Amino acid sequence: MSKTAILEFDGKKYELPVIVGSENEAAIDIEKLRALTGAITLDPGYKNSGSCKSDITFLDGEEGILRYRGYSIEDLADKADFLEVAYLVIFGELPTKAELAQFETDIRKYTLVNEEMKNIIDGFPKTAHPMGVLSALTSALTAFNPKVVNVENDKEMYEAVCKTMGKFLVIATWTYRKMMGYPLNYYDNTKGYVENFMHLMFELPTGPYKASPVVVDALDKLFILHADHEQNCSTSTVRIVGSSHAGLFASISAGVSALWGPLHGGANQAVLEMLEAIQKDGGDAAKYMAKAKDKDDPFRLMGFGHRVYKNFDPRARIIKKAADEVLATLGVDDPILNIAKQLEEAALVDEYFVSRKLYPNVDFYSGIIYRALGIPTDMFTVMFAIGRLPGWIAQWKEMRINKEPIGRPRQIYTGHPLRDFVAMDKR
Ligand code: CMC
Repeated sequence: MSKTAILEFDGKKYELPVIVGSENEAAIDIEKLRALTGAITLDPGYKNSGSCKSDITFLDGEEGILRYRGYSIEDLADKADFLEVAYLVIFGELPTKAELAQFETDIRKYTLVNEEMKNIIDGFPKTAHPMGVLSALTSALTAFNPKVVNVENDKEMYEAVCKTMGKFLVIATWTYRKMMGYPLNYYDNTKGYVENFMHLMFELPTGPYKASPVVVDALDKLFILHADHEQNCSTSTVRIVGSSHAGLFASISAGVSALWGPLHGGANQAVLEMLEAIQKDGGDAAKYMAKAKDKDDPFRLMGFGHRVYKNFDPRARIIKKAADEVLATLGVDDPILNIAKQLEEAALVDEYFVSRKLYPNVDFYSGIIYRALGIPTDMFTVMFAIGRLPGWIAQWKEMRINKEPIGRPRQIYTGHPLRDFVAMDKR
């Protein structure tokens, strides 16, 4: 028998359907609530609101579980590579060897970016933040690829996926090349996707470049861990923008902007800046712990806490191990890391952090790895965007295929009631 919930409002009782997900999560379906009662629900920050049904990612914040299409993040990070995971997230199944090879070949068809895009990059100052440039360039791709994708047509959708995967990686690295004043590189179709990232970023015309396999491996893992995270701020943005039937590039460009903020993807940059600031200030981690706990101080310990993980962040566990391996392999001895360790150890036993279930999140460790790999701090959130791209594409595709209605929340108006207009000379 299907479950229902009873709501009593204004002296009347209403029976509302309950939707149960495949992992037994329950949702009270309020789709008809306003029509039945005249009332809406109010949930700032959507802490209790589901915006859609989705087959892509399962996340249990209490248990620290993250799965893409039913596969655990631990298994995927250990046994698959990033393109394989991207295929899984976007198309729903792990690819066969032939499907994966075809996917990579098809992405390579689209790795050339229109040369006129360089004129747009030239218009930015070198000091522009790479996330701002990336959002603008992603949006600009729409101008060079104006055809609207027919989402019902598998071939068109597949091509759009390959095109987005190919071009986004290139323009993401171009934001760095611009910042550094280096010539822009081209994708090398003889190299793998993640290896290409390193080549696009770091190869200079003055000499050959060979990416270390340890580094490529660590990046592959990082991208996998970021590939999707259900209805987070940037993904919800991509879905809501796409729900107006805006194109894929335009929707992803909006997702990049949403990811930029320090409470979301921008946290990885904020973590490193915080650690550097603590170091400059004498390296006293305890002082900053106290600041984070002081209600009169707006300072927050960046890289701690999560909207949904209230036990531990499973991505953080995997990445912590990868960080230790990378640092040991590369022989990195960085004083910033000692500060990170002190903060981590102190927070894990501190009553304030323990009682609020504030644990190190994925961004606490990802920044540490990126720094060890020589990636500048301003590029950290761009790294997150490259990893998150398959998730954005998959969620956009699912939303369109499911024919979801345009996203349009309601509000409770708290402003002035109707007032008479006041003429200019009477104000
Ligand atoms: N440092 C100090 N106090 C904190 C922190 C922190 N990092 N995070 C939360 N709190 C406190 C907060 O002040 C509040 O205390 P009280 O109950 O006494 O008022 C309590 O913990 C609950 O915080 P909240 O802001 O209501 O929790 P939220 O679920 O709305 O926020 C968060 C989640 C991630 C925005 C927040 O924990 C935060 O700002 N963390 C730092 C930024 C960060 O690392 N973000 C990356 C998230 S992981 C990447 C991603 O998936 O986007």
